[in-house]
Amino acid sequence: MKTQFERRRHELAINMKSGIAVIPTAGEAIRNKDAHYPYRFDSYFHYLTGFSEPESVVVVIGGKESRSILFCRAKHEEREIWDGFRHGPEEAKTQFHFDDAFAIDEIDTILPQLIENKNTIFTPVGVSPDWDKKMMGWLNKTRSRAREGVNAPAGLIDVRQILDEMRLIKDPEELDIMRRAAKISAEAHIHAMTAAAPGKYEYEIEAELLYHFKKRGSQFPAYTSIVAGGKNACVLHYIENNTVLNDGDLLLIDAGCELDGYASDITRTFPVNGKFSGPQKVIYELVLDAQLAAVEATSCGNSWQAPHDAATKILAQGLIDLNLCHGSLDKVLEQREYSRYYMHRTGHWLGRDVHDVGNYKTDGQWRSLQPGMVMTIEPGCYIRSAPDIPEQFWNIGVRIEDDAIVNHDSGCEIITSAAPKAIKDIELLMSA
Ligand code: GLY
Ligand code: MN
Ligand code: MN
Repeated sequence: MKTQFERRRHELAINMKSGIAVIPTAGEAIRNKDAHYPYRFDSYFHYLTGFSEPESVVVVIGGKESRSILFCRAKHEEREIWDGFRHGPEEAKTQFHFDDAFAIDEIDTILPQLIENKNTIFTPVGVSPDWDKKMMGWLNKTRSRAREGVNAPAGLIDVRQILDEMRLIKDPEELDIMRRAAKISAEAHIHAMTAAAPGKYEYEIEAELLYHFKKRGSQFPAYTSIVAGGKNACVLHYIENNTVLNDGDLLLIDAGCELDGYASDITRTFPVNGKFSGPQKVIYELVLDAQLAAVEATSCGNSWQAPHDAATKILAQGLIDLNLCHGSLDKVLEQREYSRYYMHRTGHWLGRDVHDVGNYKTDGQWRSLQPGMVMTIEPGCYIRSAPDIPEQFWNIGVRIEDDAIVNHDSGCEIITSAAPKAIKDIELLMSA
């Protein structure tokens, strides 16, 4: 039986017809002097290979008789003593089911031969100047052999247009990892809720999240955690996480782990002292109603836009009822007056990247939701202090974010539901 990686390479090969794909993994990044950032492979490369080592390139030869070739680091006793294990081409070929594998040092010789007489190269175009230059070098080397009767590819196509569509619909193996990632993150949010207390610092709560992510086997946070007490919650990308938590404030946490290359993305908002105040309750319930309406609208066949429309409708009406927006619902929606308090969209695709790949519109239309798509559902309401806003609502920032898999029949599966979001459940947990 084929592995998911072989299946994906085969699908790419069929899509390319007689082309050839050449896809590098990510480079290692230096943080400063001799210290590196933790290595993270490229999402496209890993989607097709499952291979995690840097300095690797996958080649997929298109058509029905497709072949896959890996270039990777050669075995190297001394480097392995310093930096750790390398599979080397021979072992990688067997273990990762390639038709062939070569040392990366050989790519300048072998790749120009592989692209001979192929009509199109599929590669990431314009992502990295280094890669573009290498690709042009190999192409020109093949072109230089024209008088020997060698034809060089005439076309260069961005391979991401095929891979993005493939990655948009998750296969069962991917859904399984994403459910596990979501569960770890949901549990981390529960830990954060039980750890929060007036007088603690935001970074102490961030530490609880990171500890739990690692303890449960996730490799990284999927993005920098937002741990935002009080008015910091009204800064959408707040990541300083260095402020003391005050009694009577809300705490907004947007944090999710990455597991085996897949992101999770959860936001919960709760009172630092475990009990919502009256005004906090009002805003929280409004966002929760909007979120539940968006969840309801997340269903196979519905437009991508449907959850956003459902959420904004509820939020806009709520803001009118609270005298924070003025005029008719139609006017507040049409003129986007709610955007003073709700300025982002209700979700994004989720997968290997937290803001995952895949077009949101096709042929000028919002695309319709299909089984296997995974997305976030994350309305919010952020009220800054201003003379025309009642003081009781100042500095209240609320977002509630879940991850959803679009089901085959109807509706969606919320894979982050272990993290409580009903007021009574949050207060019960925090009082325990
Ligand atoms: N955590 C990133 C986002 O919610 O989009
Ligand atoms: Mn998100
Ligand atoms: Mn988020």
